[in-house]
Amino acid sequence: MATEEHTQEAGGVAMAEARESLSVTDNRTGQSYELEIADGTVRAMDLRQIKVSEDDFGLMSYDPAFTNTASCRSAITYIDGEAGILQHRGYPIEQLCEHSSYLEVAYLLIFGELPTQPQLDRWVYDVTHHTFVHEDIKKLNEGFRHDAHPMGMLLASVGALSTFYPDAKQTEDPEERYMAAIRLIAKIPTLAAFAYRHSMGLPYVYPDNELNYAENFLSMLFKMESRYMPDDRLTRALDVLFILHADHEQNCSTNAVRSVGSSDVDPYSAVAAGVAALYGPLHGGANEAVLRMLRRIETSENIPDFLDGVKSREERLMGFGHRVYKNYDPRAQIIKKNVDEVLEATGANPLLEIAVELEKRALDDDYFTSRKLYPNVDFYSGLIYEAMGIPTDMFTVIFAIPRTSGWVAQWMEMKDDPEQKIARPRQIYTGERDRDYVPAADREGPEKIVGPPAKRPKKPRRGA
Ligand code: CMC
Repeated sequence: MATEEHTQEAGGVAMAEARESLSVTDNRTGQSYELEIADGTVRAMDLRQIKVSEDDFGLMSYDPAFTNTASCRSAITYIDGEAGILQHRGYPIEQLCEHSSYLEVAYLLIFGELPTQPQLDRWVYDVTHHTFVHEDIKKLNEGFRHDAHPMGMLLASVGALSTFYPDAKQTEDPEERYMAAIRLIAKIPTLAAFAYRHSMGLPYVYPDNELNYAENFLSMLFKMESRYMPDDRLTRALDVLFILHADHEQNCSTNAVRSVGSSDVDPYSAVAAGVAALYGPLHGGANEAVLRMLRRIETSENIPDFLDGVKSREERLMGFGHRVYKNYDPRAQIIKKNVDEVLEATGANPLLEIAVELEKRALDDDYFTSRKLYPNVDFYSGLIYEAMGIPTDMFTVIFAIPRTSGWVAQWMEMKDDPEQKIARPRQIYTGERDRDYVPAADREGPEKIVGPPAKRPKKPRRGA
């Protein structure tokens, strides 16, 4: 609403202070406006009324990478980065990791409440009995090169699920939504394990419905001739890792799922977009980078030199720092407790010694503490995966398994939010305008294609 007065007069200062609004003056016109503040935000659309003339489009906000823009209202995950707090539907992550199971947390994320015992039994039964995939998915996987990255294979097979379940296009139908949630959560470990077995040249292992979710996944990875029954300490640690990775509010991949899902595409295609986003090394790939870093450091004696390299900005201390957590990442604290138990089952790992010493030295160093750089979830998770015998290429794939429940929960919340529409950001156009077309023969310029935006490869590339 446009106002002439910047602040109110009578009863004045106190009233102005109490109002949940923001007064802004457009210095181009001298006009003042009052924008409502709700939940600590102003609505970007309220800026549109701020114009220099009648035919002006109106003011927009500019926020590349959404660093200060809330894109939705959500009741799924609460994070207080300064205090190191993470809660799902109000339940602290520490309690969920101690007392719950991944499938129960998946239910909590999607339905909003912890299940009663009969609800939980039904949910676990339904997930367990949808773990098999159509035989044609196997053929799809067989079409990949022997050295295909398993994350690329997972991305393709999750997308392919939409062709097997075309009824999922009825995105408003609660039964279709339930089936999509069940199928995605049930089948993603199978798809992940198939991708791994393909990369190893090993026969695919079918799900074993007698095993629990984490046991079944490890069995599909590692089973050879006889039944594979992993150590309890490993399956519990994996289940805890699944809980820790289930959701993390509006991160890159969740934003991708919501954005793609806002076109009303089926949930399998929307989740495939999440898998694609997670594939990137800035998002899901950091735990892989931590292991490579620890291997490069090689011995504890090399840590001081390595940290000097970080401080002179030649390196990054992978597994440290977070956009939101400016305190110890609560997930890292929980994982650290699990590392010892896993190594007890699998035998010592020399990389752990390096990791512990590296953390200690970094936390004693003002360079890191003054920048609020603490270990994040990825600092120790890779060590656990490695101890379980899982190759580094699979780390991001394993991240995608539990994150699927978060993606599904966020997709459903987005679908039911009456304020959401197809996601369509604005832009500030910076290019040329109103140029006249010139025929190719009359154009001047270099003969070779020059970059940016693209550079023609000098050497032939592999493949067709
Ligand atoms: N090692 C060394 N310096 C760092 C690091 C690091 N890992 N992270 C941040 N800094 C420095 C950075 O150079 C900057 O210093 P200065 O102010 O002197 O220029 C300051 O700390 C602030 O960093 P920033 O880059 O502005 O922080 P950001 O919020 O944009 O980046 C981050 C967050 C996670 C991308 C970054 O901390 C990083 O690259 N960490 C290593 C990669 C990693 O472990 N990623 C996993 C994140 S957790 C997984 C998940 O939740 O999805």
